[in-house]
Amino acid sequence: MSFNILISDPLSEEGIFPLREAKDFNITLKTDFTTEELLVDIENYDALLVRSQTQVTRELIEKAHNLKVIARAGVGVDNIDLNAATENGIIVVNAPDGNTNSAAEHTIAMLMSLARKIPQAYLSIKNKKWDRKSHVGVELRGKTLGIVGLGRIGEEVARRAKGQRMEVVAYDPFLTEERAETLGLKMGTLDEVLAVGDFITVHTPLLKETRHIIDASAFEKMKQGARVINCARGGIIDEDALYDAIKSGKIAGAALDVFEEEPAVDHKVLELKEVIATPHLGASTIEAQENVAIDVSHDVVRILSGELARNPVNIPSVPREVMRKIEPYFDLSAKLGTFLAHTEIDGIESLTINYAGDLAALRIAPLTQNIVKGFLQRRLGSQVNNVNASYIAEQRGITIQENKTTAARGFTNLITVELKDKNGVKRVAGTLLNGLGPRIVKVDDYSMDVVPEGHLLLVYHTDQPGAIGRVGSLLAENDVNIATMQVGRAVIGGSAIMMLTIDRPLNETELSQIRGMEGFDHVIAVDL
Ligand code: NAD
Ligand code: MLT
Repeated sequence: MSFNILISDPLSEEGIFPLREAKDFNITLKTDFTTEELLVDIENYDALLVRSQTQVTRELIEKAHNLKVIARAGVGVDNIDLNAATENGIIVVNAPDGNTNSAAEHTIAMLMSLARKIPQAYLSIKNKKWDRKSHVGVELRGKTLGIVGLGRIGEEVARRAKGQRMEVVAYDPFLTEERAETLGLKMGTLDEVLAVGDFITVHTPLLKETRHIIDASAFEKMKQGARVINCARGGIIDEDALYDAIKSGKIAGAALDVFEEEPAVDHKVLELKEVIATPHLGASTIEAQENVAIDVSHDVVRILSGELARNPVNIPSVPREVMRKIEPYFDLSAKLGTFLAHTEIDGIESLTINYAGDLAALRIAPLTQNIVKGFLQRRLGSQVNNVNASYIAEQRGITIQENKTTAARGFTNLITVELKDKNGVKRVAGTLLNGLGPRIVKVDDYSMDVVPEGHLLLVYHTDQPGAIGRVGSLLAENDVNIATMQVGRAVIGGSAIMMLTIDRPLNETELSQIRGMEGFDHVIAVDL
């Protein structure tokens, strides 16, 4: 099988080596597509690699009939319509670590340039002026740096600012006392950080909640003469409010690497001498570009080879060591979902997944996603995958619930999937038996030991002499070989279940013959 890969923004040639090395990958490097051209051409590709220039809109995604993965060589995925990608079953991956160092170094370069007016002095001397008076700066030592957003880059900035002997105060909803202490910084609320910072630097993603988090009222709360830096995303700082705050003298200066609209050349804020700027260069180092291109290229190869991505954005991601532990349960989990999808379902309400045992202590979201995929795929086809399974379930009003207990339920690990519909609850449970592989160990309340594989026949009947023989004879008459057989019953003479593994699937006539037998409530054929 061959794959067509489109790289539509400039990426490091060394970084895309994993793609070049992969067998049967046809790579198109074209960075000058017009929006219209791309809308037409996109359907030819299996993978799209971008930086921040290509706008991966819903319109584009809906025309990308063959696209399996969108790879963002960088951190921010705000140029990609994630909902549209998820709804269309396309995995989005990014490279969250590769440019952290470059972005942090750029922030510090901007901080120092802002404090010492280096860009302004440079321009002046290049214009043949020897002006020392206009370019008197301020020291960093002893000043306070307020950081809004202490993730990967915020943390690296904090470490470097400490090296400049600055005090650091940070606000991040996920910052813990412990981490703040380890990093030697103070924690504060957003208002506290704004109030004490001589310099304020933002390092959040651009989200609904962070859009204009630094607005006119935030500038009001800042110290007189504070300076602000944005090397994260345009739109976190309200540029019009910044303009007014600098004009009024409240804010002494700003350093901007990113803008609400890029390329930004005409914004009035750039006319102010107090504003220094770079054209989105935070990650523009040879090292960072190579790192991010390598990371996403590897993920594209993994995904197109049917393996799991390392840095997925729109599917649950778990650490590698956790993945190693849950991976053996992948096949079983999908099959438990598929098994229940074969039962008679009327007005489905919910799927509840109960994890009991060691697994429950881990992040098992990918298993849940796999169960939902297995369940829905049987009814809705291959449009359902690990990316959009939960979304499609939600769209169809199916509640997905996950319960966990580390207490063992008879097995080291037991996964029980319960389907609730108008008629009640159906249940199947499975485990991995040491050295023997996956097993279905319970169907409804009946204990079983069945390999979840091939053609299964589930016969609900009333416990009575001869029931098993009648099914056996009928199958023999139709030349159907039985590989395994299990029976379970609640009480003698009560309701019972037979589960057979047969060598070929039964046709409708054969199934109705079994269904027509006396004492047989219902018969379900399951293909796993
Ligand atoms: P990250 O996910 O590691 O960190 C972001 C942090 O922001 C998280 O800790 C999160 O808890 C915090 N946060 C979220 N909402 C918040 C809120 N309302 N208030 C305060 N904190 C909040 O991301 P990162 O890798 O550190 O990247 C940070 C930003 O830098 C992103 O916007 C990214 O796109 C941008 N970036 C820019 C460049 C560039 O070229 N200028 C390069 C790399 C990254
Ligand atoms: C990122 O989010 O990674 C940066 O903005 C860098 C880039 O766009 O390349």
